[in-house]
Amino acid sequence: MATAPKLDLPPPARPTRKLGRSQAQHRRAAKTLPLGVSDTYRYWGDAQTLYVTRAKGAQLWDLDGNCYVDFRLGWGPIILGYGDERVDAAARKGIEMGGVTALATALEAEVAELMVAMVPGVEQVRFANSGSEAVATALRVARAVSGRDGFVMIEGAFHGMFDSVLWRTQMESWDPKSGQAPVVAPFGRGIPVAHRDLIGVVPLNDADALRDLFRQEGSRIGAFILEPILGNCCSIPATQAYLKDVRALCDEYGIVLIFDEVKTGFRVARGGAQELYGVLPDLCTFAKAMANGYPIAALGGRRAFMSAISGFDGVLHGGTFTGHPIGLAAAEATLRVLKETDALQQIADWGRKLQGELAGVFAKAGIPHIFTGHPSMFGIMFREKAPRSYRDWAGSDHDLYDSIARALPDYGLLPEPDSREPWFVCQAHNELDPEEIAGKVAEVIATLGR
Ligand SMILES: Cc1ncc(COP(=O)(O)O)c(C=O)c1O
Repeated sequence: MATAPKLDLPPPARPTRKLGRSQAQHRRAAKTLPLGVSDTYRYWGDAQTLYVTRAKGAQLWDLDGNCYVDFRLGWGPIILGYGDERVDAAARKGIEMGGVTALATALEAEVAELMVAMVPGVEQVRFANSGSEAVATALRVARAVSGRDGFVMIEGAFHGMFDSVLWRTQMESWDPKSGQAPVVAPFGRGIPVAHRDLIGVVPLNDADALRDLFRQEGSRIGAFILEPILGNCCSIPATQAYLKDVRALCDEYGIVLIFDEVKTGFRVARGGAQELYGVLPDLCTFAKAMANGYPIAALGGRRAFMSAISGFDGVLHGGTFTGHPIGLAAAEATLRVLKETDALQQIADWGRKLQGELAGVFAKAGIPHIFTGHPSMFGIMFREKAPRSYRDWAGSDHDLYDSIARALPDYGLLPEPDSREPWFVCQAHNELDPEEIAGKVAEVIATLGR
């Protein structure tokens, strides 16, 4: 999920793939589905929107039979590989349980116990169907506990498809010399402006800005939500010192600290970013990697906060499909693999190898570059210095990045066509050669005359 939609992508310099069947499918689908897709970000223009027939390992195939090595991985959920038999066999057992009954199953506690064992800040869990739902519930709990409706987000953050958080930092139009903060606007139309009054937006890694905001508005702020690694913004990482300051400031002002680990959870470490950094939130959200692509999400946190979900006088949470046996069975199998094997180490090692090969290609072409975040979900920024916040994206050569990313599908590689989305790695990438992949990137760079 990128920060800003770019509809109708300009075509790559030398399109070489056949996309006739995908284009015909688009014409048909657009009659019954707005833009011919089920998510606006999946629309890449009438001529380039892809329709997938199959995915396996780290690869997928489109309707025209084109094969891609995938670095989007569904925007993060695929952690082991597409069609992983360990997970799919478990999901089949979930199907055999018969469906939703509007009653609890023993699977719920089994997955919750695994999460509690793996994630240091999780003492209790509630399940949801999407990251958006998990984040919405986290905010509801935080507001109930703090008694305050306002909350703070980070510039460049994305926290889901609901009105409270659908506020976008417009870095594209920001003038670094203006001395002003970038404009924050709704993600499109239909979002009540009243929600804007409830949010504060600060740059990452700027504890002074956060302190000032808490000082001025602390009595209205109930929660601070952030991704410790900006999974929707080049994987720009928080520093550990910043997260420690954040923890201390939230404690000082009685503000609930929420880590949105929808992308980082069960990916950057068994216990998520909170384990990597050694800083614990009060509440945290998970979704993508927890079931290798099956739809399930979770809110977790310290008992003192989660216990606000306490009956009809407390915070309400639930839904017809929450705790669905298919998602839970898949989550149990995925989490066991991640907990009991070195899968995450393999993923990080392969990601580092790919970075090494890509670094050689960029250096040879004289392109200043830096890899950001974690090797299992890394950003590529065409700038020399490590970025501190989304503001540093403005000074990077993101147009060059986008030109390369748009041409790569013709060479069989599929990153997101937006410089802000990281390259995701799964265990199945291990079967592929990083040198060969970097070679494709070199070919594209050569076609661009670099
Ligand atoms: C950090 C983060 N939080 C929340 C969400 C929303 O998750 P979902 O798409 O499952 O609703 C996303 C989606 O990309 C995300 O990246």
